[in-house]
Amino acid sequence: MQVLIAGGAGYIGSTIASACLDSRISPVILDSLVTGRRELAAGREFYEGDIADGELVDRIFAEHPDIGAVIHCAALIVVPDSVDDPVGYYRANVVKSLDFVAHLLRNGCGRLIFSSSAAIYRPGEDLTVDEDSPIEPQSPYGRTKAVCEAMFADVAAAQPIRVLSLRYFNPIGADPTMRTGLQLARPTHALGKMILAQEEGVPFLVTGTDYPTRDGSGIRDYIHVWDLATAHVAALRRFDALPGPATAINLGTGRGTTVRELLDAFNHVAKKPIEARDAARRPGDGPGAYTRTDRATRLLGWQPQYDVTEGIRHSLQWDAIRDQILSGFPEHGGS
Ligand SMILES: NC(=O)c1ccc[n+]([C@@H]2O[C@H](COP(=O)([O-])OP(=O)(O)OC[C@H]3O[C@@H](n4cnc5c(N)ncnc54)[C@H](O)[C@@H]3O)[C@@H](O)[C@H]2O)c1
Repeated sequence: MQVLIAGGAGYIGSTIASACLDSRISPVILDSLVTGRRELAAGREFYEGDIADGELVDRIFAEHPDIGAVIHCAALIVVPDSVDDPVGYYRANVVKSLDFVAHLLRNGCGRLIFSSSAAIYRPGEDLTVDEDSPIEPQSPYGRTKAVCEAMFADVAAAQPIRVLSLRYFNPIGADPTMRTGLQLARPTHALGKMILAQEEGVPFLVTGTDYPTRDGSGIRDYIHVWDLATAHVAALRRFDALPGPATAINLGTGRGTTVRELLDAFNHVAKKPIEARDAARRPGDGPGAYTRTDRATRLLGWQPQYDVTEGIRHSLQWDAIRDQILSGFPEHGGS
């Protein structure tokens, strides 16, 4: 089987491609490199271009008639940028996705797996969510994901295509064999900032210490990116048995980890521990959430294998080799 991975030169898409290769599923990658990196598609079937480019999508399907499914990871993902530039974000994430699904329909593609996000939920008071929790995104980025899900569900209700939206929680780590990982040198999520604090010898700022969590810091559901990737392989295998023309599944570990707990785990793993300092909440940040659902296990037969400690270890390993792997091409953007 062949699978088209849109956004397959990015952090998650390239890791999904690695997991597919390990499972004898051939990935074909379509990526504009707006934030992705050519090196992350090295040695893989790669088309540089935009998901909205109908002629290119037609050519890919003509040259790969065995493509049986599409995994759509192509998006812009920086929440504050989406606040500053909603038009750009709706165009990149919604308008282009609409064009893309039309191109898929024209090429007879009936299976679509969409990279959605836990950012679409309003968490309950206990900070857990399941797939039936209220959809109430807190940012334009989150809303682009919710709009795409609804749009794809409408299309799937009327057209010969079925869609699975996988709602990712907070990916960390890298391919355990270090083929791929996060391309950004200055990521803005907590683990990335811990690695930076370590490299630069500055304290890590715990931004927000008055959230309704067990220690006041924000809580997240950190899922190892390799576990995310293997969930896609499971989804490809089980796709035709999924209920309904449109299904949504949370991909998390079911365990909440606070920023302070992440810091403890980091200092346990890292050779050079870092100091922390309490700081005010960042605008737009919330307390966070974690999943309480077992739908992924029931429908996909999948369970995460790695814990937070392994995610931190793999992130640090990747950080040490990233510049070597990503050499020769300029870096774009930040997450
Ligand atoms: N990283 C996270 O924390 C996270 C959490 C939840 C959901 N997601 C979703 O997972 C997906 C992948 O995220 P990521 O972290 O790998 O980000 P990323 O920026 O590393 O990857 C996105 C890839 O899509 C490509 N791309 C963007 N627009 C494109 C277009 N119009 N045509 C072709 N290629 C295009 C980029 O060049 C990049 O390679 C995104 O859809 C994102 O919304 C990410």
